[in-house]
Amino acid sequence: MKVLVVGQGGREHALVWKLSQSPMVEKVFCAPGNAGTAVDGENVDIGATNIDGLVKFAKAEKIGLTVVGPEAALVAGIVDAFEAAGLRIFGPSRLAAELEGSKVFAKDVLRQSTIPTAEAQVFSDAEAAEAYIADREEVALVVKADGLAAGKGVTVCANKSVALDAIRRIMRQKEFGDAGKRVIIEEKLDGEEASILALTDGSTIVPLETAQDHKAAFDEDRGPNTGGMGAYSPAPLITPALMDQIIGQILVPTVHAMKKRGRPFKGVLYAGVMITHQGPKVLEFNTRFGDPEAQPLLMRLKTDLAQLLVAIADGSLDALPPLEWDPRPAVCVVMASAGYPGDYEKGAVIRGLDDASRLSNVKVFHAGTELRGGQPVTSGGRVLGVTALGDNIGDAKLRAYQAVKCIRWDGAWCRHDISDKARKYSSGPDAGG
Ligand code: AMP
Ligand code: GLY
Repeated sequence: MKVLVVGQGGREHALVWKLSQSPMVEKVFCAPGNAGTAVDGENVDIGATNIDGLVKFAKAEKIGLTVVGPEAALVAGIVDAFEAAGLRIFGPSRLAAELEGSKVFAKDVLRQSTIPTAEAQVFSDAEAAEAYIADREEVALVVKADGLAAGKGVTVCANKSVALDAIRRIMRQKEFGDAGKRVIIEEKLDGEEASILALTDGSTIVPLETAQDHKAAFDEDRGPNTGGMGAYSPAPLITPALMDQIIGQILVPTVHAMKKRGRPFKGVLYAGVMITHQGPKVLEFNTRFGDPEAQPLLMRLKTDLAQLLVAIADGSLDALPPLEWDPRPAVCVVMASAGYPGDYEKGAVIRGLDDASRLSNVKVFHAGTELRGGQPVTSGGRVLGVTALGDNIGDAKLRAYQAVKCIRWDGAWCRHDISDKARKYSSGPDAGG
């Protein structure tokens, strides 16, 4: 079978790498891909939201399975278009992807099914939103643009003036265009976050191992938010008892609610969860693999990914045996361009990739890279996801950073504390150094 992965980031490289290991798969294409997917697969110069172009390519190449990385393609209806053309594709339909594409829709689903989440109000009028904020006592609030905003639509506001400023940017200056026509203003939740990803064909739900992202740019979670500066799996914060609670109170009722609304959900259901004193609460839903969570998760997954994703696309997930995982933890350290998450330079030559990949239990996933004259150069803010398996979380961290040390380009930087949060849960000799 030929497989097509849609997208060009680190998540997509991890998908290409893992899918290409399946005995069912003869070839993996990636559209448009990066310098890493060009090595583990074959790049096709079609953009991720050029749906007509992708359908044409998939038909011509007789692609047996298409796997979609980015949310923009899902929200634009790539799954509906492929299915209408009789092509097998992994991911939710346009209507189901609204769980990520509209935070107002997601909040409605959460409320109707009494799934634990932050208290919230929806506004489609700037004046009403401003009056609501002005009338409140001085508390921390979170302001969210309704639609897709490339991960920048959420502002955690320490006080009213920051919240009012967020309304001005989103609703008056229209910083995110139509994505900011409506906003949600919600209470700020306190606790630690985890990424809970589950595969579902709309009936059967198979949770993946847990993971934790590092959204802040700098060490100790300081600095602006980014797409994610690193991740690790498993997240020891999520005990088996908490996971049962998350499955019973969040995942199952969400999948059930989507079915009842006539929008059956197929694909990856990713719940961003805050573990509060009152238990787990949903911060947001994503409708695809997390980036960079996919990198450590797929490095740990032993099950044949192609077989799994075909079963989901075909609605026969219940017939598969339980997933198999490498028990060893994995740590992914993102190396970024100077200036990211603000403006950054492109085109720096990346050196040392071969040295890094010679280290055992290490895989360097490419994100913002491209080939220029056969050489990998930087082409994005998040450039690489250097990922390693280790005997314990400390060992995985050590190996990942050893690989990071091999790699260099002008202005390259990374956080130095990826996975340290996990260590406070693991005491004793196994915790590693
Ligand atoms: P989202 O795009 O909805 O995941 O939000 C991005 C980030 O904003 C989350 O990962 C949290 O760190 C933070 N966030 C969102 N909603 C809340 C909330 N109600 N309370 C505290 N932090 C939040
Ligand atoms: N790592 C967060 C996301 O993929 O949205």
